[in-house]
Amino acid sequence: MLDMEYIDDEVKNRIEQLRGQLSVYSEWYYSKNESLISDVEFDRLLKELEELEAQYPQFRKENSPTAVVGSSLKETKFRKVRHKKPMLSLSNSYNIGDVAGFAERIYKALDYRYRDLPFILELKLDGASISLQYEEGKLIRGVTRGDGIEGEDVTENIYTISGIPKVLPASLTLEVRGEIVLPKSKFARLNEKRLAEGEEIFANPRNAASGTLRQLDSSVVAGRGLDAYFYFLVDAESYDIHTHSASIAYLEKLGFQTTGIFEKISSLEEMEKRIAFWEAEREKLDYETDGMVIKLDDMDLWEEVGYTTKSPRWAIAYKFPAKQVTTTLRGVTWQVGRTGKLTPVAELEETELSGSRIKRASLHNLDEIRRKDIRIGDRVFIEKAAEIIPQVVAPVKELRNGSEKEIPEPAVCPSCGGPLEREEGLIDLKCVNPLCPAVIQGTFEYFVSRDGMNISGLGSKIVEKFLKLGYIKDVADIYHLKEHRAEMAELDKMGEKSVENLLISIEESKKRPYAKTLYALGIPNVGKFLGNLLAKKSKNIDALARMSVEELLSIGDVGDKIANAVYDFFRSEKNLALIQKLKEAGVNFAYEENEEAAEGEKDAQNPFRGKTFLFTGKLSRFKREDIRDIVEALGGENLSGVSKKLDYLIVGADAGSKLEKARALGTVTIMTEEQFLALCGDRIKF
Ligand code: IVH
Repeated sequence: MLDMEYIDDEVKNRIEQLRGQLSVYSEWYYSKNESLISDVEFDRLLKELEELEAQYPQFRKENSPTAVVGSSLKETKFRKVRHKKPMLSLSNSYNIGDVAGFAERIYKALDYRYRDLPFILELKLDGASISLQYEEGKLIRGVTRGDGIEGEDVTENIYTISGIPKVLPASLTLEVRGEIVLPKSKFARLNEKRLAEGEEIFANPRNAASGTLRQLDSSVVAGRGLDAYFYFLVDAESYDIHTHSASIAYLEKLGFQTTGIFEKISSLEEMEKRIAFWEAEREKLDYETDGMVIKLDDMDLWEEVGYTTKSPRWAIAYKFPAKQVTTTLRGVTWQVGRTGKLTPVAELEETELSGSRIKRASLHNLDEIRRKDIRIGDRVFIEKAAEIIPQVVAPVKELRNGSEKEIPEPAVCPSCGGPLEREEGLIDLKCVNPLCPAVIQGTFEYFVSRDGMNISGLGSKIVEKFLKLGYIKDVADIYHLKEHRAEMAELDKMGEKSVENLLISIEESKKRPYAKTLYALGIPNVGKFLGNLLAKKSKNIDALARMSVEELLSIGDVGDKIANAVYDFFRSEKNLALIQKLKEAGVNFAYEENEEAAEGEKDAQNPFRGKTFLFTGKLSRFKREDIRDIVEALGGENLSGVSKKLDYLIVGADAGSKLEKARALGTVTIMTEEQFLALCGDRIKF
């Protein structure tokens, strides 16, 4: 009995906690139109609450977030307006199985009179929803969604948006609904400007769009470049319109902008394909989409299919994996790179982002931390930059409780404990100890990297060991490692075979193109691009070493900073001695005429370009999501199933039906994970 009471208390506390959290999030969302957490996280909490309430009906409450659309608009600077018809929300789905369930519920509600009704698949724009009223052809009011029953009158602001028609081609009285968005390009510019002016940045285009729409000064709104897309005509039946697709065509005829993407689909298979297509394609669009919306096309059936308290049963949202999630910033560690520069790395409460587990993310530099006012203990938005590297976007200041702490600047180098310096005018801290282990490690890593000498078998652990044993002191010593062949083979985990491979790789590296050896030297500011350019222009390293600043400046794309860095590099005795040592070892420092052509050809031969990939079975080297990111980063495309369109199937352990199907097709190249890695070659650094 006692136990039961204890469990009841636990459950009750959790329910209260969930209700509290959910109402904070939804209140913020409905009053400000900005989300403090991602939809997935919100849905997860809501689902947990729904399940607990179903299991423990004694704790149910009428005003629970599970039963109401959103809380009412508490404070608003705008006049409140009641919607003629409620602005409902959509229930969410996350996989094709959910969509199958949605269609099945529709067929059931229609007594199974149909089995293959057409649905319209369209983009779900991630902005702020708006309702526009026109009277006798003139725009008279624009109202935000608010809590779905009442919204805010933002007419003044709506008038400043050029993409919204102010007058219709006919004297019509109607209401249309759509989404106000801030195009990605405008969003990036707006945030740059705000950062420069010391203002808070918006975490994403959606928060920027709703924040802007709710500005009191409409001249500010006019300058931000909002845009609008429409997807709904209220009471379309009264215009003798009977399908959703016809209502969109009518809106377009009246001059309303739509995304133009409305696909009529009747089979689940096709639906899955098109969703996958748009999930990849959406990156190319200049507005943010967070999913797709699937609507039953036949509007005459809508009433019969009906509504829940919050959403219609004839439509559903298909949410793409969130590109941004929030998590807690637990601490910051500082990494020391080969140049001695310190970079802050966020230590996060582990979370999932686009399918991979994330514990650490980039914080760029101290300047950015301060400008964005990111603190330890903050809830922060994270996202993947260029789809691969996670980074901290912005803190959610609204969720602070006062215990958050400023991120302290390190007093000494976290690697060697030596003093730190700040270059004039620069915010970055630098360890100036040339013997700092992190700096030395970084120099070796850079030298052997795939963009540099491309030596495999010299990972950071081995380098550390060799440094300790005194086999290597500078990078040129790598070419004398063969003198330690026998000792190396005796080392723990090395063995003869790997020593042999390492020495072969070192020998091979002597033939690297000049552009690569130049890159590997690590001249400040000279990366891949400048390595290529300087190699081509100078022809050999002696000529480059002799160039004056003026001569360097006369090469297009070389500015003051780079010219001086290159000039200074070759005025250092230490650097010249190192180059001499490398030359004596046989490293190539001369340009060959076909060098660039060979590299260019390599890219033309990029095996990923225009090819499709699918992974099946248990992968051992990579998480599936990461490997998919790699495919995309290299210009390939990921498919979700085996079809004639598939070029490569990469098979892990326990592969099943996909492998069989691919074999049966006979057109798919089947390979192991290792073969896939070989295919990647030096295109990507692992
Ligand atoms: S239809 C009753 N279509 O998503 C149907 N909504 O979660 C109501 N949204 O409040 C909406 N793109 O702000 C619909 N193509 C689209 C949409 C869309 C974005 C937003 C809209 C709505 C929210 C529902």
